[in-house]
Amino acid sequence: MGKHVYLQTYGCQMNERDSEEILGMLTAQGYSVVAREAEADVILLNTCSVREHAEARAFGKMGALQRLKGERPDVVLGVLGCMAKAQREEVFRRLPLVDLVAGPAEIYDLPDLLARVAERRQRAAAEEPARLLAVDRPVRPLEKKPAGDYRARPITAFVTIMEGCDKTCAYCIVPMTRGQEVSRPLGEVLEEVERLARAGYRQVTLLGQNVNAYGKRFPDGSGYLGPGRRERLLVEEAAAAEAAGARVVDFPVLLRQIDARTSIPRVRFTTSHPFDAHERLFRAMAECRAVCESLHLPVQSGSDRVLRRMRRGYTVASYLAKVARLRELVPDVALSTDIIVGFPGETPEDFEATRALVADVEYDGAFIFKYSARPGTEAAGWGDDVPRAVKEARHRALLELQEAISRRKLERWVGHEVEVLLEERNRRGQLAGHTRGNLNVVCDGPDARIGELVPVRIERVTPTTMIGVVA
Ligand code: 5AD
Ligand code: SF4
Repeated sequence: MGKHVYLQTYGCQMNERDSEEILGMLTAQGYSVVAREAEADVILLNTCSVREHAEARAFGKMGALQRLKGERPDVVLGVLGCMAKAQREEVFRRLPLVDLVAGPAEIYDLPDLLARVAERRQRAAAEEPARLLAVDRPVRPLEKKPAGDYRARPITAFVTIMEGCDKTCAYCIVPMTRGQEVSRPLGEVLEEVERLARAGYRQVTLLGQNVNAYGKRFPDGSGYLGPGRRERLLVEEAAAAEAAGARVVDFPVLLRQIDARTSIPRVRFTTSHPFDAHERLFRAMAECRAVCESLHLPVQSGSDRVLRRMRRGYTVASYLAKVARLRELVPDVALSTDIIVGFPGETPEDFEATRALVADVEYDGAFIFKYSARPGTEAAGWGDDVPRAVKEARHRALLELQEAISRRKLERWVGHEVEVLLEERNRRGQLAGHTRGNLNVVCDGPDARIGELVPVRIERVTPTTMIGVVA
C-alpha cells in the first residue's frame, strides 16, 4: 500500500508554492495526499517565522501532533520552511518527537530525508525517534529542481521566479531563512508558464521575496548583476546595456517575454520592494496586455525616521514619487501595501505620519501588522519598546482607516463593468473571481463558466467584495 502524506502550510504565497513543490516530489514518488492528519503516515508542517504568532501556532500544532505518535509510533513528523531554519535546534528541543527538520533551501532534499528516516527506523528500536536535520544549505539549488507537478487549485497558479532576499531590513527574518537571491532561468519560467496555460490555467502569479531582483544570479553563474555589484546600479545599468545592444534579463524583460511568448491571459507578481520598483517596471506593466494593473508595494511606515531605522532604502517622498509615476503610466492601477505598527522607537508622531500616508495614497488594500521581534534580526537587539496596548490601538486605527478607504474605492465601481476571471464556486454557491486590479467579485452562473474571463456589471458592494451580474 502506498504512503500517505498530510501537509499544512503557514505564511506567505512562497510557502504555498513550496508546499505544492513538496507534494509534487512526493506524489511523483508514489505518495498520495490526504486531507486529514489521522490518515497520514507522514505529517509535515511548512512553517513561517515572519512574526512570533505564526511560530507559536506551528509549535502548538506540532505539540498536538506529537500526541498522535503515542498511538501510532510509525508516523513521521517533519517541520519544514522558515521555522526549520530560524529555530532548528529549538524545534528539536521543544518537540522531541519530530523526526526531520528542513528549511526552505532544503526542500529538494526531502525525499532523501524521508528515505533515511525509514532506514534508520528499521535499524533502531521503533520507540527511538530517528531525528534528522537537513544539511544546512545557504541557497536553494534551483538547478536540481526535481520531477513532479502538483497544484493546489485550478485556473490560477503560482510560478516561483526567484528565491531568497539580499536586503537587510532590520525587522525581517526572511534573509536568514531563505538565503541569498537566486533567479530561475528565463527559459524555464517561460516553459512553465506556457505549460500551465496549455493545461487550462488562466492566471499565473510570479513569486519571489523581491521579484524586482530577478536576473541577479542564475544557476549557471550568469546574471547581468554579478555577485557583489551594487543594487543601486540595477536600473541604470540595465537600460544602458540594452541601449548598447546587450541582452539584458531582468524583471521587466521577464514580464515582456511572458506577455509576448506565452498564451497566459493574466500575469500577477509579488512582492516588489519599493527600492527596486522603477519606471522600467511601470512601463512594462503599462505595455504588457497580460500583466494586470495591480502592484503590491510594501511601504512599512510613513515616517522617514522609522524607514531609516528599518533600513528600507527609501524615503516617504521617494516612495510617493514612485507611486505618482506609476499612476501616470498605469492609470487605474490597484495598489496594496504592508505596514508594521509598533516598530522599536515608533513615536506617536511617527505613527501619525503613517496614518497620513495611508490617507494620502488611498491604497486598495493594506496588510497591517503589529511588530514582533525576531531573534537574530538587527531590530531584535533594540528592545521591543512600544507597549502591546499601543500597538493594538495603532493597528486598529489603521485597519479602520483602510477599511473606509477600501469601501469608498469599491463603491466607485457600482454601475460599471469590470473584467473578471471566474476562478471557483465559493462556499455560498456563487461564482467567485477577481478583477485585473485583484478586487474580489462574486456573481451567479453555471460551473461551465469557471475559467472564463467575463464582463461583470457591479450592482453593490460589501466591505471586501463586489457583487454583480455577468453582462
Ligand atoms: N514583525 C511584524 N511584521 C513583520 N513583517 C516582516 N517582519 C515583521 C516583524 N518582525 C511584515 C512586513 C512584511 C510582511 C510580509 O510581514 O510588513 O512586508
Ligand atoms: Fe524582508 Fe525586506 Fe526581504 Fe521583504 S525585502 S523579505 S521585508 S528583508
